[in-house]
Amino acid sequence: MKFFIDTANLQEIQEAQNLGVLDGVTTNPSLMAKEGISGKDNIIAHYKAICAIVDGDVSAEVISTDYEGMIAEGEILAALDEKIVVKVPMIKDGIRAIRYFSDKGIKTNCTLVFSAGQALLAAKAGATYVSPFVGRLDDISFDGTKLIEQIRTIYDNYGFETEILAASIRHPVHILQCAEIGADVMTGPLSAILALLKHPLTDSGLEKFMKDMAGKWN
Ligand code: G3P
Repeated sequence: MKFFIDTANLQEIQEAQNLGVLDGVTTNPSLMAKEGISGKDNIIAHYKAICAIVDGDVSAEVISTDYEGMIAEGEILAALDEKIVVKVPMIKDGIRAIRYFSDKGIKTNCTLVFSAGQALLAAKAGATYVSPFVGRLDDISFDGTKLIEQIRTIYDNYGFETEILAASIRHPVHILQCAEIGADVMTGPLSAILALLKHPLTDSGLEKFMKDMAGKWN
């Protein structure tokens, strides 16, 4: 399972990269705005800075919603770095744009996916990644992980190579549930990844080991 971090914060991305388990980064317009990034030049500079930190794929979302606009922005973003994945919303023009990028060998991430039908369309269009939003479905009393299961079944039935990127991950249990189902990737905050470290028996066991061997190295 690949671990992506869902943020545009350079310090958090660096911290996750330093941990040695980071496979990529996802961003979205809200996350970019949270970092105070606006204007074409600043947006481009920020994506370049992210690519300089991480080894893996970096999703950069288009902010147009018409076909021509998405193509124009996506081509600029894709030319920045080979790590860039053009993130496109699940709308009619978005599906056309994903087909265009796919035919040109440009990686894509179809975002704002909330149903298996949408995921099927994204795969048919040749998306590299599909992003079902687990947490946001949970927020409205739908089980987000059920959608991951449904998409896994459909993709496996037909051998679709589109990777299931479980997005809107909020906590470590989401990560484990998606791993059990077989999501290819998860993206969430650094806090959800770090929470996987925690177990009270690890803490108490380590405390006893340290106490028992205190000062016995030399
Ligand atoms: O980047 C897309 C997705 O991961 C957003 O998550 O927490 O805003 O629902 P969230």
